[in-house]
Amino acid sequence: MKSIVIKQPNQLEIETRALPQPGAGEVRVKVKLAGICGSDSHIYRGHNPFARYPRVIGHEFFGIIDAIGEGVAPSRLGERVAVDPVISCGHCYPCSVGKPNVCTSLVVLGVHRDGGFSEYAVVPARNAWVVPDVIPDEHAVMIEPFTIAANVTGQVNPGAQDIALVYGAGPMGLTTIQVLKHVYQVKQVIVVDRIEERLEMAQRSGADLAINNLQQSLAAILEEKGIQPTLIVDAACHPAILQEAALLASPAARIVLMGFSSEPSSITQQSITGKEISIFTSRLNAMKFPIVIDWLSRGLIDPTTLITHTFGYQHITDALELFEKNQRQCCKVLLTFNP
Ligand code: NAI
Ligand code: MN
Ligand code: ZN
Repeated sequence: MKSIVIKQPNQLEIETRALPQPGAGEVRVKVKLAGICGSDSHIYRGHNPFARYPRVIGHEFFGIIDAIGEGVAPSRLGERVAVDPVISCGHCYPCSVGKPNVCTSLVVLGVHRDGGFSEYAVVPARNAWVVPDVIPDEHAVMIEPFTIAANVTGQVNPGAQDIALVYGAGPMGLTTIQVLKHVYQVKQVIVVDRIEERLEMAQRSGADLAINNLQQSLAAILEEKGIQPTLIVDAACHPAILQEAALLASPAARIVLMGFSSEPSSITQQSITGKEISIFTSRLNAMKFPIVIDWLSRGLIDPTTLITHTFGYQHITDALELFEKNQRQCCKVLLTFNP
């Protein structure tokens, strides 16, 4: 089989590897589609501190179970599955309080262990979630990015009264906007980005108001309109955003951060305690695959609006380069395997 391997930073090879055999409790997935994420590019470029090399990257993938290991029900053969990349121990403190996404011995497929940019991938059977036939392949491959939005929104119980402000209209901002608007039906979703094309995508994903903060002052526009967001999601992840978000937020607002910057954010106690603002963080997803599969089955979210390009996996280098260099035209880029 062929696998996309990052041998070391900036060195990508399409390697021929032996077909892997599933061990006890594992299944082998014949991969059909995979999505490129910022973190794949970070591992490629050597910017992910968690990555070990060589590594088969890819943590957003969909395929068909074509082999099973010991102890796995034979009925699982042939299932269409989306794979949760989060592998956890099940008994540490975070696992025991429902946060396997921050398990003390967390393993993420495509980061700590070989992932899905491969013709075949072996994964724990419990990580392979069956996808009902009503969900087409192109939607199934987008389940993982939507689980991130499910995790973000799951922290804060959004409701009909909420005025949400989402920083960043990349894949993460767009999935969050769709979930806030179409699943939780919040009152209003405002999006802020500096790329016009991405703001247009955000409007197609349900944003009611799009603000380009390269051209206009976000604070001035919100003040002029008398808007104080009650729920703020930082899907742009610059460390300076927290301070601005606290300033713009309504009293009693919730702010969700999802960035991993090692640079400090500067914030005063007064700006958050004075309004009793709650600050949440969100990493990966905690058992959100069934929830997103349900949303897709009910047609509440539409992943196709995010997909801008599809390449055969042989063209991975071109695909990564386009993804990295062209944020105006690119959002989610898919790779096909075993067409
Ligand atoms: P992306 O780079 O495609 O999108 C980020 C967007 O934010 C861009 O459109 C950019 O123009 C915009 N932006 C940057 N600075 C801004 C600012 N100051 N104000 C307004 N807009 C600004 O990235 P993607 O894939 O959407 O991911 C977003 C962030 O989420 C990344 O930093 C990534 O590391 C993080 N992330 C976190 C996860 C988690 O589980 N916590 C999972 C996946 C991504
Ligand atoms: Mn991802
Ligand atoms: Zn654990």
